[in-house]
Amino acid sequence: MPDQSLDLPLEKIPRHVAIIMDGNGRWAISRGLPRLAGHKAGTENLRRVIRATVEFGIKYLTIYAFSTENWGRPPEEVQGLMLILQDVIDRELNELHKEGVQLRHIGRLERLEPVIQQKVLKAIELTKNNDRLVLNVAFNYGGRDEIVQAIQRMMKDGVKPEEVTDELVGQYLYTAGVPDPDLIIRTSGELRVSNFLIWQAAYSEWYITPTFWPDFDKEEYRHALETYSQRDRRYGGVSEAVANKTNG
Ligand code: FPP
Repeated sequence: MPDQSLDLPLEKIPRHVAIIMDGNGRWAISRGLPRLAGHKAGTENLRRVIRATVEFGIKYLTIYAFSTENWGRPPEEVQGLMLILQDVIDRELNELHKEGVQLRHIGRLERLEPVIQQKVLKAIELTKNNDRLVLNVAFNYGGRDEIVQAIQRMMKDGVKPEEVTDELVGQYLYTAGVPDPDLIIRTSGELRVSNFLIWQAAYSEWYITPTFWPDFDKEEYRHALETYSQRDRRYGGVSEAVANKTNG
């Protein structure tokens, strides 16, 4: 078997990867299958990608599983996605726990059915001390909604206008304590942010591929990471090479 490890210097491996797992529906339709079959294939792929993330030594993974806008899909698809979440927890929780994965949820938990809320809370509680990989599941998540609720909570806490800083806002988001994503991967070729981590993505690098999510395999994941490792992250400044030239 070929060596599957990632051959990159440690500082070139992103700490936090976030993924918009898009294209399940089109993957299914192109095979003459119902859309839900695409979500099931996408779920199988998610298992492989989580495993690869652990093997690559990445510490944080955030996945966009259900957005606040996805309620507008046909009821049977919405219901199917709710069942998939429960099924993933029922079937995968012990394995994820054994692998040292800490599960977290970002989004509006209180608007999901009580049975789902309980399963999610149980999974969070069981895995809270794991530290090999932090897996943030964005489910009933919207970036604007996250910012709105952060503002509401700041106001309720009596935060004064002059006390509002970047850092403070960060502490009121669902992702408090999690570093911003270094790399965001979007499958299926759409060139949109889709309300995903809109605050946290301020300086993220993007990798967008035409591949549908169920077909996004470990090889392409590795390619995305290698592409990321070659990016010159300037955070609005100039690259080191230019800075050295200017200063010298
Ligand atoms: C986007 O594809 C995908 C989703 C809205 C759902 C993603 C869910 C999974 C991969 C299953 C894993 C889920 C959990 C709960 C862990 P799309 O349906 O928008 O595809 P299309 O753009 O081709 O129609």
